[in-house]
Amino acid sequence: MIMRKCCPPGWLHSSVTLSVISSPQGCIYSRPEYLSRAGGPTWQVPLGRRDSTTANAARTSDIPSPFETFENLSLKFSNKELDSTDLVALSGAHTFGRSQCQFFSQRLNDTNPDPTLNPTYLQTLRQACPPGGNPSRLNNLDPTTPDDFDNNYFTNLQNNSGLLATDQMLFSTSGADTVAIVNRSSANQSAHRC
Ligand code: HEM
Repeated sequence: MIMRKCCPPGWLHSSVTLSVISSPQGCIYSRPEYLSRAGGPTWQVPLGRRDSTTANAARTSDIPSPFETFENLSLKFSNKELDSTDLVALSGAHTFGRSQCQFFSQRLNDTNPDPTLNPTYLQTLRQACPPGGNPSRLNNLDPTTPDDFDNNYFTNLQNNSGLLATDQMLFSTSGADTVAIVNRSSANQSAHRC
């Protein structure tokens, strides 16, 4: 049941649904296997189980984009009965994986870069995603330990090194209740595990 709460089916993007629930045609143990190899938690997944036999394209409008405001991000989670702790814990899945330049390059603007970006990290990202460059180029979501399931995702946020704007805003939004949750998760290696 915890898994169900962590990742409601049919809502979060495909990499998420693949990570914990079966897709209609998918190999349902592939992501848990990867999580385990990356140092994450393990759980048993019944082979052959199906959570859904159809895809529902209309429901994908609920999926948060990396360009959401903090208010919209929170709203999209609360509409699914997921609170701020869920938002922070689930975003912690970005402890590994990659993102294409197009999903964060608006933060790198030459004259007006995102002020919540660490200046050194900003330079690194500008080199990786220059104006007119390949918008599909992949970048590590966790620049510190890109392939490990650990809590460096949260430490990165404290260092202004979250890749997506929606990652960094969990820590950089003044007065947001997610700030304390990020701090707790950063201080505790096991706090971010579902
Ligand atoms: C909070 C809202 C979220 C937003 C806005 C978001 C956005 C994104 C974006 C833009 C990417 C890169 C996709 C690409 O470049 O093709 C990504 C990758 C990824 N996301 Fe999320 N995500 C969110 C929540 C989650 C959650 C809840 C999980 C898991 C529980 C998750 C797991 C992942 C993983 C594992 C990747 C890497 C995929 C890969 O490298 O193949 N994300 N996300």
